Amino acid sequence: MKVPSSVPGHVSFIMDGNGRWAAKRGKDRINGHFEGVESVRAIMEASVEWGVKYVSFFAFSEENWGRPESEVEGLMKLMLDSMVKELPLMLGNGIHFRVIGNMGRLSARLREAIEEIDRKTAGGKNLTMILFLSYSGRWDLQQAACRMADAGARELEPYLATAGIPDPDLMIRTSGEQRISNYMLWQLAYTEFVFTDTLWPDFRKEEYLAALEEFASRDRRFGKVK
Ligand code: IPE
Ligand code: IPE
Ligand code: MG
Repeated sequence: MKVPSSVPGHVSFIMDGNGRWAAKRGKDRINGHFEGVESVRAIMEASVEWGVKYVSFFAFSEENWGRPESEVEGLMKLMLDSMVKELPLMLGNGIHFRVIGNMGRLSARLREAIEEIDRKTAGGKNLTMILFLSYSGRWDLQQAACRMADAGARELEPYLATAGIPDPDLMIRTSGEQRISNYMLWQLAYTEFVFTDTLWPDFRKEEYLAALEEFASRDRRFGKVK
């Protein structure tokens, strides 16, 4: 397989279309989420191989708490099981695993697992992989503004949940939807967007390569004149 000519520093994904992938096959929505985990692994492995330093995934939004309880429970169990299962792969590939979001809404068990995996993988130098879980852009801005005010500070950026992480260079959303859905509202200010009709469970290495090629053809000006 070809390799990308150049890679962005931080690629972020709005993984969408799991439910529709399952429905197309007459299966329950959770099957789409199961298959979606395979895509996450494929992207993780390709990112290490191609030298992408940060890869992040919108896995569950604050609004997603409003889904039927059975789906929410299924998703939370899947997250826990998957992060435990993928730990050896992360350790073996030098991947630092992190989670960003409103952690207070997660179960104590999930929070403990996240903290443990973050700690165990903290030495990973090849790739930082971030899962946005119980996250929304407005929540992030809100909590950052409060903490900034409490500290009597004037600069917002250090208080964002993403502090220390470079803004995404490329954001890829699958499943044909062309919206942000309350993802990183501040951090996406100058990010390049790629929208694809491919449903998340079908998004693998080849689709990733195509998106990176599309990114390489973009002319980023950051408001300046070239
Ligand atoms: C994305 O797939 C995963 C989550 C938002 C948790 P969806 O579950 O939104 O799938 P569709 O959009 O209904 O097909
Ligand atoms: C966005 O997908 C959130 C995640 C991928 C976690 P949704 O499926 O929740 O977004 P909408 O409802 O189509 O905007
Ligand atoms: Mg969706």
